[in-house]
Amino acid sequence: MSRIAYVNGRYVPHRAAEVHIEDRGYQFADGIYEVIAVRAGHLIDEVPHLDRLDRSLGEMRMSAPMGRAPLRHAMREVIRRNRVADGIVYLQVSRGVAPRSHAFPKSAAPALVITAKRALPNFAQMEKGVAVVTLPDIRWKRRDIKTVNLTANVLAKQQAVDAGAFDAWLVGENGMISEGTASNAWIVTKGKELVTHTPDYSILNGITRLSVRSLAEKEGYRFVERAFSKDEALAAAEAFITGTTSWVTPVTAIDGKPVAGGKPGPLTRALQRLYTEHADRA
Ligand code: PDD
Repeated sequence: MSRIAYVNGRYVPHRAAEVHIEDRGYQFADGIYEVIAVRAGHLIDEVPHLDRLDRSLGEMRMSAPMGRAPLRHAMREVIRRNRVADGIVYLQVSRGVAPRSHAFPKSAAPALVITAKRALPNFAQMEKGVAVVTLPDIRWKRRDIKTVNLTANVLAKQQAVDAGAFDAWLVGENGMISEGTASNAWIVTKGKELVTHTPDYSILNGITRLSVRSLAEKEGYRFVERAFSKDEALAAAEAFITGTTSWVTPVTAIDGKPVAGGKPGPLTRALQRLYTEHADRA
């Protein structure tokens, strides 16, 4: 079966799907995106993802390519045409096509691409845990906007892979960990507090992060938003990451040193169960 992509109003074979060479997403990374997980044919946390898409558009002073109802319809159509039961939907909106010039074009219409692919979460990795390495966070100062400019994330991820790790935890000039290259970073303190970075400009406020937070709070776990350092993470009771593609994945080593005895911790396991049930309810 050949894959189908949605490109500016048309459903086209994936291999033939193209955007213009003067698309501003291509030339300036002048665009934003969302990744939404699909579980048994249903979108997980669709509304918060679309709310964040709207927020990113607003912060970029870009207009929406279409209303929410037709957007939801187009996503479902891409899922249906690609027969995705478990996988992800990718949405990208750029400021459109215009002769290259830094200032906003006067008349370009936003360009929309939607793709979907089959993929199961990496359950083996969720079971076993992953290693991360710390690297300097060299990104720009508006990481709350989900822009397609992922240059620094790509470089850090590759450096992590080259070092034999799953991902990098990015460290700011203040010595504090902001987040992973495509996930949010968490620790569990010895006092059983769940700690993750404040959702300011220095991180992307992950939708999985927000869901895990509300699931945890409903169970009575204590949740604290603040920055933590690598040393605090190494001394923590547990560590894990959250994200659309990683769900809740334990972190068992940082820079080659074991966290929590090198094994996924009990609270991480509890949150994995809660999030999996949440995904199954989608
Ligand atoms: N990335 N931080 C960064 C830098 C991210 O790119 C992501 C998601 C997250 C987690 O956000 P969420 O829980 O909403 O997925 C945090 C997506 C999955 C990606 O780029 O593929």
